[in-house]
Amino acid sequence: MTDKKKILLSGVKPTGRPHIGNYFGAMKQFADLQDEYDARVFIADYHAITTVQNAAELSRNTLDVALDYLAIGIDPKKTLLFKQSDLPELCELAWIFNCITTMPYLMRAHAYKDAEAKNKEINVGIFDYPILMTADILIQDADAVPVGQDQKQHVEYARDTAEKFNRIFGETFKLPNSLILDHVKIIPGTDGQKMSKSYGNTIALFAEFEDIKKAVMSIPTNSQGVDESKDPEKDNIFALHKHFADAEEIEEIEKRYTNGGLGYKESKEILISNIEKFIAPLREKRKEFAKDEDAVRKMLKENGEKAREIALSKMKEVKKAVGLY
Ligand code: TYM
Repeated sequence: MTDKKKILLSGVKPTGRPHIGNYFGAMKQFADLQDEYDARVFIADYHAITTVQNAAELSRNTLDVALDYLAIGIDPKKTLLFKQSDLPELCELAWIFNCITTMPYLMRAHAYKDAEAKNKEINVGIFDYPILMTADILIQDADAVPVGQDQKQHVEYARDTAEKFNRIFGETFKLPNSLILDHVKIIPGTDGQKMSKSYGNTIALFAEFEDIKKAVMSIPTNSQGVDESKDPEKDNIFALHKHFADAEEIEEIEKRYTNGGLGYKESKEILISNIEKFIAPLREKRKEFAKDEDAVRKMLKENGEKAREIALSKMKEVKKAVGLY
């Protein structure tokens, strides 16, 4: 890691098992970009408390996400891999940001509006989620934040807040940009909506074969027969083929859909086989890392200490700017 490299920062919430939407939309980029950037990737355990309110579950999920990161190729020698709660300064910084943020501004957040529209109970943590995320990003002086489309607005909150802070207290924060890849910005779930843990439409990133099969078989289809012509762009199976088949196979599937001759059952079987081919090696790698959980905990602790040094140094600047000295 040299100082000249741009800083990449992103995280995943340990609220359950990551799915292939999390992987293609964000996590894959963390691994792909770790040589090019000064990469910092974390497990967002503070954010998870907004929904996971059981100590054993949160702690288990947190270690699981660490194993997931390692299994997809995030190398702790290249990436600063840590857990968010090892940086308590994030809560301190979020408080300072809260004091320059208005309620109507936070009320415009999509996640808040969705929860309200669904009459969900909204705790203050959920309401303030974008501001803690802002602290995550700005405390690291991040340049690039690889995320899926659903987090774009949150990165904009970070940018706006950096600008506002700089305007009030003087130049302190860098303005971050989200890094969103167009072809993977919204990975669809088995029901065609965005894949999401809260919609129950996921395919877990480390799913066992039987679970992959069950998930794919649950994809709803219409009643068109094998020989009938089908519009691939209106088919949830095809939407997923695009992420697991190579270009030649996609073209072949597309042709067979359009000309007739490819039934939904066979299409699902092809998808199951391709997903299994993709996931099987990841599953094996994960099992290897899981054999020594103590080593993973030790790595998180050491990296947490390094990440905290960065946070403390930034907080010195912030406190000086605000007058907390
Ligand atoms: P989380 O755990 O909900 O999601 C992790 C990442 O997965 C992306 N994602 C998707 N991308 C494409 N298609 C989908 N169907 C899909 N579903 C999820 C999300 O956009 C996200 O990038 N709030 C963050 C965690 C976080 C964070 C941060 C990220 C906390 N602080 C600071 C960046 C910087 C989140 O949604 O995690």
